[in-house]
Amino acid sequence: MQRGRVCFVKNIILIGYMGCGKSTVGQCLAKMLDFTFVDTDAFIETQQQRTISDIFAIEGEEKFRQLETDLLKQLVKEGREQLVIATGGGMPLRSENRELLSKLGMVVYLKASPETIYDRVKNDTQRPLLQCDNPFAKIQEMIVQRAPVYQETAEHIVMVDTLAQEVVAEHILGIFQDNISKSQQRNGY
Ligand code: S3P
Repeated sequence: MQRGRVCFVKNIILIGYMGCGKSTVGQCLAKMLDFTFVDTDAFIETQQQRTISDIFAIEGEEKFRQLETDLLKQLVKEGREQLVIATGGGMPLRSENRELLSKLGMVVYLKASPETIYDRVKNDTQRPLLQCDNPFAKIQEMIVQRAPVYQETAEHIVMVDTLAQEVVAEHILGIFQDNISKSQQRNGY
């Protein structure tokens, strides 16, 4: 895949609201491509030796956001390749993070309706932002705020409501392979 200084294969980054399937699709995709899977939430929990709920409760959301930025910076600095990265739902909120995500590779937004999201996360107690009286209203409100940010950050959008997660992974695999073929053609390979 690599010749001289031209490198076709970088990384695939999945963004989107909580519960849209980033981790499951990401693991599936990593297996299909034989890439390494990185879940930014899991990475931060391991590194910090505490859960995201604890980080939010003890040190606050800003601290968590900084840890997210630090992780992206680290991945860019190390020049990591052949990763499928499932990001936390708030990762693209900082403009600095949006730039880092684009540097890392192909960003794909998994777009889901508030109904799909609610159905998937309604029994979850591990997402501090949804521990409120009316999680459905909160999901609706946050999706309205965040959708433009996700859209601005992503090169590709996949509507996931009616698709099995394996099908979503296959679809992204197709997009990725197509990107590689196009860049090979552009570079005369
Ligand atoms: C968050 C999403 C979570 C996690 C944290 C904050 C958000 O990740 O990073 O609870 O702001 O949307 P998932 O999208 O993997 O649930």
